[in-house]
Amino acid sequence: MVTRGRGSTGRYLTSRGRTSADAGRDTPGTQYHGKRILDLATLSLLAIPAVVLGAICALAIWLEDGPPVFFRQVRAGRGGRPFVLLKLRTMTSARHRSDAFPEPASITRTGRLLRRLSIDELPQLINVLRGEMSLVGPRPTLPYQVQRYDSRQLGRLRVRPGLTGLAQVHGRNRMSWPERIEWDLRYVENQSLRLDLAVLACTVRVILTGDGVAGHSRHDPIAQVAERRCAVPEVMPRIRLAKPDIGAEEIEAVRAVLTSGTLTDGPQNAAFEREFADRHSAGHGVTFASGTVALAAMLLAEHIGPGDEVIVPSMTFVSTATCVRHVGATPVFADIDPRSFNLDPAEIARLVTRKTRAVLTVHYAGQPGELDQLQKTCADHGLLLLEDAAEATGAEFRGIPVGTFGKSAMFSFTPTKNITTGEGGLVLTSHAETADRLRLLRNHGQPSRYQHVLIGYNWRLTEMQAAIGRAQLRKLDAILARKRANAGWMSRRLAHVPGITPPYQVPHASSPHMLYTCLVAGDRDAVLDHLVQRGIEARIYFPPVHLQPIFADRDRRLPVTEAVAAQMLSIPMHSQLTPDELAQIADTVEEAIGQADRARSRTLPTPEPGTARAAARPAAAAQPTPVLQPAPTVQPAPTKPLPPTVQPAAGPPAPRPAR
Ligand SMILES: Cc1ncc(COP(=O)(O)O)c(C=O)c1O
Repeated sequence: MVTRGRGSTGRYLTSRGRTSADAGRDTPGTQYHGKRILDLATLSLLAIPAVVLGAICALAIWLEDGPPVFFRQVRAGRGGRPFVLLKLRTMTSARHRSDAFPEPASITRTGRLLRRLSIDELPQLINVLRGEMSLVGPRPTLPYQVQRYDSRQLGRLRVRPGLTGLAQVHGRNRMSWPERIEWDLRYVENQSLRLDLAVLACTVRVILTGDGVAGHSRHDPIAQVAERRCAVPEVMPRIRLAKPDIGAEEIEAVRAVLTSGTLTDGPQNAAFEREFADRHSAGHGVTFASGTVALAAMLLAEHIGPGDEVIVPSMTFVSTATCVRHVGATPVFADIDPRSFNLDPAEIARLVTRKTRAVLTVHYAGQPGELDQLQKTCADHGLLLLEDAAEATGAEFRGIPVGTFGKSAMFSFTPTKNITTGEGGLVLTSHAETADRLRLLRNHGQPSRYQHVLIGYNWRLTEMQAAIGRAQLRKLDAILARKRANAGWMSRRLAHVPGITPPYQVPHASSPHMLYTCLVAGDRDAVLDHLVQRGIEARIYFPPVHLQPIFADRDRRLPVTEAVAAQMLSIPMHSQLTPDELAQIADTVEEAIGQADRARSRTLPTPEPGTARAAARPAAAAQPTPVLQPAPTVQPAPTKPLPPTVQPAAGPPAPRPAR
């Protein structure tokens, strides 16, 4: 292991010559002045207790599993230079040579305790004393991992690696590699004595609260330092809006395709189409390279083109409207229902002209709107109903799967969706002729090789993606169950927060909660900023499309859409959120509302006598338009809300107990 590690680093340094990593080693000023003094001063304070504690732990290791007591491994230090990292041994002696991905069974009882309290890292104080490490910095990486860094990521080698770091106090084990590296880069760019002290304090706190440095902290030292220094870049979200549930099944599926030799236009696509269609009780599924091209194909399959109009909502992702332009037709923007954010059927009668060919309805956040009314209205006016079900995989209306209410429907599989193929889309239809035409459009208009009967495109999904899609489809029910439990808990919790309206539940509809979008009465942007500063990803899903510079319809007003857009806020709601993360999100929203309200009341004029009550309710006063009513159907929880018991299927460590 030692030999291999050295070789890898040597190869890396040789192959890259004096690149960023090397440069980092020599660049003066890459560590702030006084960092070494902080390390040595802290070491002198810790020396006696550390030696005593180390001796006790060494004895416990010896008694349980015999020698050796230390575990040594070559790691990449500052500038990629190798050094031997010391730890207390936590694995059975047969296994201790590779601790990168330990199996639980090979960790000793003492080792488990040492890891939980992070005491196994104690001997690294010797590395700090030798100057190979610092107390705070990016964790020293395995040498082979350095070879995978891009030139920006190599920047994490500009400082000495640390015993603890920003990723450690932000829940290292729940992060992907790129996320950890982002925290490291942020540290490198923002190092200061104050930040080091904050990270050390946080480390002590997370260890004492039982999380260990692999757990996660509710405290964000960099945000606190940032508030004072006001000079740090945007905080990397700790809790992402969406997180694909990808695991061994998908990896194995891709591996099998790659070794099969058929990478496109093969059995995986055919099977994915059939399985997706069967799940929806639809006749045909046709895969596409993305949801956007699938939408365009759906319109082309209906011969919609120049001179035609298609009614679309403006509260959607832009491609609902741009696909209409792609085929040369004109999108006509319609207003929405203020509670479901879905197209208002009453708008159709108002907007229909003799050029109108179709209504392309969107199921916002995956939740269908009043589909029976839409069907009736379209039938009354002789219009085609098409569904943009990009967000709606797994949704139902009156027990019937969404995607079967219009003549055809598009589903998207980008990584924010409930199931993903990386990129990808699929059109469902029960009309054989439409399916045939969609297949021709997807593949250069060829019914058989090199015979082209219409102007087609290469809009095919690869076999690897289709194989991922099949594995994802098998997980769909489990993903939906976890999301629904999480969303149910969140709605009960937020129902107690004044100024927040949780998502509306359309009667007879089931939502897959692709998004969790609330309305914020008050300073929504302040709430959004607060969440982002606390590392919780939040977004405005979506800025109205009719107001985008690419649409000439900018004079047209859609009062409900615009009022919703001014108040909406989407917060994380993916299937892998733990109870603790859910509680953090809800607490932070509540804290943000409180802070925004206090800020507002400080800026409000002193109330006239007799108007004090009105001034004391700034949130209500802040409603930007009277168009919106609070959604009434979300029931407050009858008891003290508890985080849900649904656990992530795999991956993240066991959640903290419900508070
Ligand atoms: C409502 C809606 N329509 C269309 C699309 C476009 O799908 P894709 O990103 O797969 O092209 C999306 C996806 O983001 C969407 O949310």
